[in-house]
Amino acid sequence: MIPCEILVYLPFQPAVDGLVCDGVSVQAIASETGTPVYIYSARTIREAYRGIDEAFASFPHAIHYALKANSTLAIARLLHAIGSKADANSGGEIRVALRAGFAPADIVFTGVGKTRDEHEFAIAEGIGTINAESAGELDRIAAIARALGCEARVALRVNPDIDAHSHPNISTGLKSNKFGVPLEEARQIYRERKGVQGLRFVGVHIHIGSQITTAEPLRRAAEALVSLALELRDDGHALEHVDLGGGLGIAYEGRPMISPDEYAAAVLPELRRAGIPVVLEPGRAIVGHSGALVAQVVDTKRYPDGRQFVVLDAGMTELMRPALYGSFHRILPLKPRSGAEQPLDIVGPICESSDVLARDRLMPPVAVDDLVAILDTGAYGAVMASNYNRHLLAPEVLVDDGNWRIIRRRQALDDVLALEKD
Ligand code: LLP
Repeated sequence: MIPCEILVYLPFQPAVDGLVCDGVSVQAIASETGTPVYIYSARTIREAYRGIDEAFASFPHAIHYALKANSTLAIARLLHAIGSKADANSGGEIRVALRAGFAPADIVFTGVGKTRDEHEFAIAEGIGTINAESAGELDRIAAIARALGCEARVALRVNPDIDAHSHPNISTGLKSNKFGVPLEEARQIYRERKGVQGLRFVGVHIHIGSQITTAEPLRRAAEALVSLALELRDDGHALEHVDLGGGLGIAYEGRPMISPDEYAAAVLPELRRAGIPVVLEPGRAIVGHSGALVAQVVDTKRYPDGRQFVVLDAGMTELMRPALYGSFHRILPLKPRSGAEQPLDIVGPICESSDVLARDRLMPPVAVDDLVAILDTGAYGAVMASNYNRHLLAPEVLVDDGNWRIIRRRQALDDVLALEKD
């Protein structure tokens, strides 16, 4: 397997005067915005999108960027501008997609617990496909569509009981997970509802998990999906697409990683068996490498046993992934100091012992006021932030073609308190 690092463009690189993002000084940005701040590279997002698009060029396909990974309006607009379609997971994400310019027909609506309001909104807007997660959901969609006097375009999400070999919290394709209907029940569910007024079956959907790092689970998912699609075709369903979901992982640690080309090579032979166009819902693989969270060192201390803590002004409120999944993110000082590397515990300021961004990380020495960049945080970073400990949401910056601009300002305490009555 070819290491991902050779294949993907990585925007944050050390330079003589400190870390740069696409050639722009990270220090210069942080001096103006303050810390913590999320910085994204537009070039990386475009290149990652194109990498997937080109890998599937030989087969009819549509890339529906999974907004859940990062739905800041400017990012959504950027992807819309280069031809991406959208995958939305809530009424809120649908509204963001519409605001960013996506046509309703170019949005797939996924989600395990859609409310009646969300269904009504999606159906009335004419959303491209609603990926239903149960037979009951299909029936509720049908009733709403009939009441609105229209037809809802739907697909059923199947759960194939395939282990994605990812972190258990982000694996979704096992029988023990809440997602979709068992594969073996799907054909019957389609059969019973064929011709039901209000429903138009346009596809089938699968998504077995996220941060998948090997091709085989994705190939098996494609195999299961296509076999079902062929059965459905025999039953007279005119499917317009099969939806493979997202899940393509990225190299957080620089270890060999499945590339978009390897992903395509694994699933295309399966997809060709039916020849039905494919929908892909990648999120992380498009925006993951594009972002860094820049934070400042606010304290350092050493315990008698030798353990050294570096406390940042950002923690689990800004970046949940390490606390939630024990996930690894490279952390680079903006301007490395000289001195031998030593194992450091990089932690946040939150009142939880799980507020650790990296444990025993070998790093050059850092001191109070130094800035560090936590890399590969473009996906599931800012979107998962919270106001715990009354932390205010960090601003977001987009670097594009040598320039940078704030695409979300820092939240002010008044923004938060405006919702409260005392
Ligand atoms: N489609 C569906 C139905 C999904 O549930 C997801 C992600 C995607 C597409 C996009 O998956 P991706 O290509 O990004 O792997 N917060 C976790 C990841 C949760 C993923 C949820 N679903 C993390 O930080 O790793």
